[in-house]
Amino acid sequence: MHEKEMNQKSTNTIWQVMSISLDERERLQGHRSFLVWFTGLSGSGKSTMVYALEERLYKWGYRTFALDGDNVRHGLCADLGFSHRDRSENIRRVGEAAKLLTQAGVIVLAAFISPFRADRQKVRNLMAAGDFIEVFCDCPLEICESRDTKGLYKRARAGEIDDFTGISSPYEEPIRPDLLLKTGEDSVETCTEMVLEKIKSRLLVADVGQEDLANI
Ligand code: ADX
Repeated sequence: MHEKEMNQKSTNTIWQVMSISLDERERLQGHRSFLVWFTGLSGSGKSTMVYALEERLYKWGYRTFALDGDNVRHGLCADLGFSHRDRSENIRRVGEAAKLLTQAGVIVLAAFISPFRADRQKVRNLMAAGDFIEVFCDCPLEICESRDTKGLYKRARAGEIDDFTGISSPYEEPIRPDLLLKTGEDSVETCTEMVLEKIKSRLLVADVGQEDLANI
């Protein structure tokens, strides 16, 4: 049995087919939707990349939404901590939320440490082929720790925070990310250009024209 079915407690539910397809939504707005998933250590630049990218896309008229670990943990995932199990549940929920947003036609930019390969793979599996773009913010621990923008590494070293990624909890690097950014060396601008180059072929709905729109 599929894992999802095994976990599903709400039996006797029947899937409803939507009356407006994603294809129609994408043609109306003139661009496709997909999920760009930034993974990496705390302080590796994931959120910085998401917001830099979102500013560019927003300016050009693309519908985007940023999902960020710190923010999501104030609401949707406020009941979760940082054990392996809780992190997996965090990524599962966020993956489902991201999928809903992409079904609404939005380009989702997600910044989560998401330290476990299996969890990232599960999110990839939720999405249509090619609609999950894994971007690895590859920044050495020493640099993340020297930045320590939130002061958390210092506290983790002092033993005040348990299960801290890179210190007392593992980070499994992507083996074949769709894109690798050297966020410890390259500038935000350089990295943003690299992501834009990577996603540009996915941005356009190939055959949108006034005629098509009139026919929807
Ligand atoms: S994940 O591992 O489940 O993907 P997520 O991206 O949501 O993590 O949240 C990471 C953020 O939570 C970090 O940027 C940091 O600000 C904060 N944080 C608090 N405690 C920890 C911890 N033990 N390990 C990592 N990050 C932590």
